[in-house]
Amino acid sequence: MLMHRNVCTLWLLLLLPHVSAFNLNLFRRPELREGDVRLFGSKNVSEGRVEIYHEGKWGTVCDDGWDMAEAQVVCRQLHFPGAKSVVTGKDYGKASGPIWLDDMNCKGTESHLSSCDFKNWGVTDCSHKEDVGVICETDDTNFNDPTHFLDQSISLSDDLGKIFDSGIGCDFPILVQSETGNRQEDGTLEVAETAICAHKVILSQFPLFNTSTVSNITVSLSQSCQPHFTTFIRYIYTRKMDVTFSSVQCLHWMASKFGVKQLMEDAGRLFSKVIPEDNSFHTQVSLYKYAEETGDLVLQENCCQYLAWNFKTLTTSPAWTSISVELLAALLTRSDVIVPDEYFLLQVVESWITEKGKSISLETQVDLLNRIRFPMIPAEKLYELESKSSLYSTHKNMYRENMLKAYQFNVLLFSNLSNPNFNKNDDDYQPRIYTMKPWSTTIDHSKKTSSFPVRNRYHNSGFSDYNRGVYYAPAVVTFSTPVHSSLIFKNNNINWEANVFMTNNECSARGLRCESFPMARLVPQSRVTRESNILFRNRLLLMCQDKYVCQVQDFKVNLAYIAVNGTQGAAYPCPNDQYTYQFVVRPGYV
Ligand SMILES: *[C@@H]1O[C@H](CO)[C@@H](O)[C@H](O)[C@H]1NC(C)=O
Ligand SMILES: *[C@@H]1O[C@H](CO)[C@@H](O)[C@H](O)[C@H]1NC(C)=O
Ligand SMILES: *[C@@H]1O[C@H](CO)[C@@H](O)[C@H](O)[C@H]1NC(C)=O
Ligand SMILES: *[C@@H]1O[C@H](CO)[C@@H](O)[C@H](O)[C@H]1NC(C)=O
Ligand SMILES: *[C@@H]1O[C@H](CO)[C@@H](O)[C@H](O)[C@H]1NC(C)=O
Repeated sequence: MLMHRNVCTLWLLLLLPHVSAFNLNLFRRPELREGDVRLFGSKNVSEGRVEIYHEGKWGTVCDDGWDMAEAQVVCRQLHFPGAKSVVTGKDYGKASGPIWLDDMNCKGTESHLSSCDFKNWGVTDCSHKEDVGVICETDDTNFNDPTHFLDQSISLSDDLGKIFDSGIGCDFPILVQSETGNRQEDGTLEVAETAICAHKVILSQFPLFNTSTVSNITVSLSQSCQPHFTTFIRYIYTRKMDVTFSSVQCLHWMASKFGVKQLMEDAGRLFSKVIPEDNSFHTQVSLYKYAEETGDLVLQENCCQYLAWNFKTLTTSPAWTSISVELLAALLTRSDVIVPDEYFLLQVVESWITEKGKSISLETQVDLLNRIRFPMIPAEKLYELESKSSLYSTHKNMYRENMLKAYQFNVLLFSNLSNPNFNKNDDDYQPRIYTMKPWSTTIDHSKKTSSFPVRNRYHNSGFSDYNRGVYYAPAVVTFSTPVHSSLIFKNNNINWEANVFMTNNECSARGLRCESFPMARLVPQSRVTRESNILFRNRLLLMCQDKYVCQVQDFKVNLAYIAVNGTQGAAYPCPNDQYTYQFVVRPGYV
């Protein structure tokens, strides 16, 4: 099945720690597009290792499922008449980048390789030994007229910049206006103006400048964005510029106003660097609002994800009471909300509603409360609900209905839940990420301090990382959880062992082959009986410097890979990788 690429990984590429200005050199972008293919490693253009361009990187294709149909698609995408044969990619030298595609399945008629079915971008169990290559058929008429490629386009950018700076031949005046906030003597608002002269022919690439219909334009901007407008216009010429945190939101706004999509996307990526820096949460909330207004779904998703991961901190931040109903509702539908337990979520939502008072209609209140997953509320807390809930008396029916559902869930086996309204795929039966004991445990691997939880057992073979002057010890924590959160499994426990491996020796001592470090492992110490239909979708949370959750990873075959330094999958940067590892057990019925 063709999977959509993970929207989260989309914007994680431009993380450059410790610099405050980002150089966005987009000049060559138009030549390389997502899903472009090339044949690499051969002198002959019609053969080579197959590589595909994704998220700014060339990567290879694994040979599982690869045959002539796939080769035809590649060759035709490259404008060759067809494929001659399938060969192995390693004949063209060893590749080192990502392996983007695996389990390819093309019909042979697709115009692009990326339109075929495959697992998902970067999801593979292959090594570069299995990279594919192809030899394409060539058009013999071209054979005696080989082409040679010349590219001096880099200097074009600078030349175009000079043309803009000099203003020679410019024919499109732009007047930039912004209110200064002061009033003039006659009481009207004072307006500051800047005049720019640009070239129609350059701006005509973006229809929203209206170069074909008018002879000049006037642009109104906020005062804070005005200084960045010239930079923006210059970018249209050169496709490169320096972006700072103070300019990024303005540039994003201008890019969206004038339909400059590439800049919009790249500026959007830079927001991820900004997001963790504001612990008042005003930035994240206002960015979400901004993303909503501009229809930027990627930015919206990223803000939402960060807020979901850091939900508990959000609820104690100054921004909490000012978040919109829409944002709260969006957060409450997510399964990646990290909270102590579902009861916590109910309580904070109730107090949020109470604080807002009558400004929230009764329907909206019910809508929000219905998003609470009552069956996930720990059973002992369900009993207190009626007496402790501040909104129970207002929404008695809603609470009763949901509590009934929750009680049924807690006293019946999944196979016996026969309520006609019962839908096992209902979100109400899916856990979020609950960190309350006993469902999670923590390994603080960042520093050897006295703050280690005492129940952690450490092997005595610690080692030092002299580079950072920090002492590490390979860590093992064992803990125990019920096999499921339903009350009927209360006394049916499962033991877990959690590890963080920093070196190959630690991995191989346990018979594991770890591909990168650090690597986390969470293993059940006993089997769950088959008939219970329980599946664990456990998660590893990386808490950065005890301040924010910067990464959430799945366990695959008990192992969770940790992305370092803003590589793919590392959503938010964490200086010096100073993580605390939190292991969360998440049982669910299947
Ligand atoms: C490139 O390979 C094709 C297919 O094998 C072959 O027909 C062609 O002669 C080769 N061209 C050169 C310049 O070697
Ligand atoms: C371009 O024209 C449209 C339609 O007349 C208008 O809404 C828009 O504001 C114009 N853009 C600029 C930059 O003036
Ligand atoms: C701008 O265009 C309008 C008509 O579209 C024209 O009347 C005006 O003189 C122009 N202004 C400048 C500065 O060229
Ligand atoms: C519950 O389901 C099991 C099979 O899954 C069945 O054996 C048992 O009789 C059911 N119990 C009730 C009370 O329906
Ligand atoms: C990650 O960044 C830190 C500095 O922030 C550096 O010391 C470390 O070597 C980097 N690690 C990798 C794998 O690039």
